Amino acid sequence: MCKFRIRGQKRIMGELCIGGAKNAVLPMLAAMCLNESESEIHNCPPIADTFESIKILQSIGCKVEFDGTLKVDSSGSLSADIPDEIVGKMRSSILFMGAMLGRLGKVNIALPGGCKLGVRAIDLHTYGLQKMGAKICMKNDKLYCEADELKGTTILLHTASVGATENLMLAAVKAIGETVIQNAAQEPEIIDLANFLTGMGAKIHGAGTDTIVISGVKKMYAGKPYSIMPDRIVAGTYLVAAAITGGFLKLRNVRPHDLAPVTNALAEMGCVIHCGKNCITLAGPPRLKALPRLMTEVHPGFPTDMQAQFVAALSIADGTSTVTETIFESRHAHAHDLNRMGAMINVSSDSRTFTVHGKPTLQGTTVKAHDLRGGAALILAGLAAEGETVVDDAEYVQRGYANIENDLTALGADIVLEK
Ligand code: EPU
Repeated sequence: MCKFRIRGQKRIMGELCIGGAKNAVLPMLAAMCLNESESEIHNCPPIADTFESIKILQSIGCKVEFDGTLKVDSSGSLSADIPDEIVGKMRSSILFMGAMLGRLGKVNIALPGGCKLGVRAIDLHTYGLQKMGAKICMKNDKLYCEADELKGTTILLHTASVGATENLMLAAVKAIGETVIQNAAQEPEIIDLANFLTGMGAKIHGAGTDTIVISGVKKMYAGKPYSIMPDRIVAGTYLVAAAITGGFLKLRNVRPHDLAPVTNALAEMGCVIHCGKNCITLAGPPRLKALPRLMTEVHPGFPTDMQAQFVAALSIADGTSTVTETIFESRHAHAHDLNRMGAMINVSSDSRTFTVHGKPTLQGTTVKAHDLRGGAALILAGLAAEGETVVDDAEYVQRGYANIENDLTALGADIVLEK
């Protein structure tokens, strides 16, 4: 396992260009099985989850080249068996279920792994695919799925799940007739996936609203090279890095509209923010202000993937903040490590609400990443803390941030990755 070693209290200052979004590219990697042809993606983030998805593509028979630009050739015959060891590492591997049902009418795939944030059920994925005609049975934690043909239908999701919406889109683009997904997730990454699929010949309307209508097509084709949307969570994390150190940051290649819930909260905490067409600047105050009430919500609400980073920042803000996590039951491990650094965070008995009593400063110590965003939050705390912070199990962070240590070093931080 590797670790980040951070010597804190250096201000984040400078300019950074944001790369492609993890949560946009992962469903696209599954989508690349659908067209029996070549696809090309620019701006693909070189993160651990991308490399794991590439391994899945290669293991089922796709040819893949990746040197910044990702090229996938899915024209050969593909295998329906997804290797268990890769699926166990990553939640998004479940998206190969919809894509491979669309491509082959068959897929055998283990239950997915990923960050442990709560139950992370897949009932909506299987419910929707079964409603489209797939037969799914589970043996020894493995799903065996088959469909002679997938048929369009109306699917109402009980929760606006990002993954279930994407999985059903991937299956529906080649189903017979029209599929309507109601209470669909509206995250910007859903729109990006719809645009990518449309470029390959799919017919999709309503992505970004709560009702997505997909008319199945017989064949998909090689689309034009596609540029992925910028990663709004990586951008948000770096904005918090500048805010927590009282620094100044200009981010390029961002979409301010997608980041509005994050920049609004940072402005309320006393940061001065300017948004341009594709850029955001932030100047952090000498001390951040507490937020009386912050609640994670589905898009366009405040994103759960920024909750941990905000809890870190609020732990040194002036006053008491309340943060409520409504998406995942168990996204709280970072609070305990922040407390080891001197923060005063009470986690409610249902693990959903954090009461954060802001302290003037934190003290560096050895802490451990338990998941991707929680690990990023500990790095942010380390940037602000007195002395040295070691964040163990850095691999969690590498799943979603490409060379975070290089980005932060370029902005004035003292951080190294030790293998
Ligand atoms: N849920 C169900 N049944 C299902 C699916 C989901 O009850 O069949 C529940 C989950 O248990 C959870 C809630 O619905 O409580 C939301 O889960 P969702 O399916 O929306 O999340 P996901 O698709 O597993 C994606 C991102 C997450 C992000 C969430 C919410 C990817 C690869 N992952 O996960 O990203 O937190 O949406 O926005 O897109 C991260 O990047 O750190 C990360 C965890």
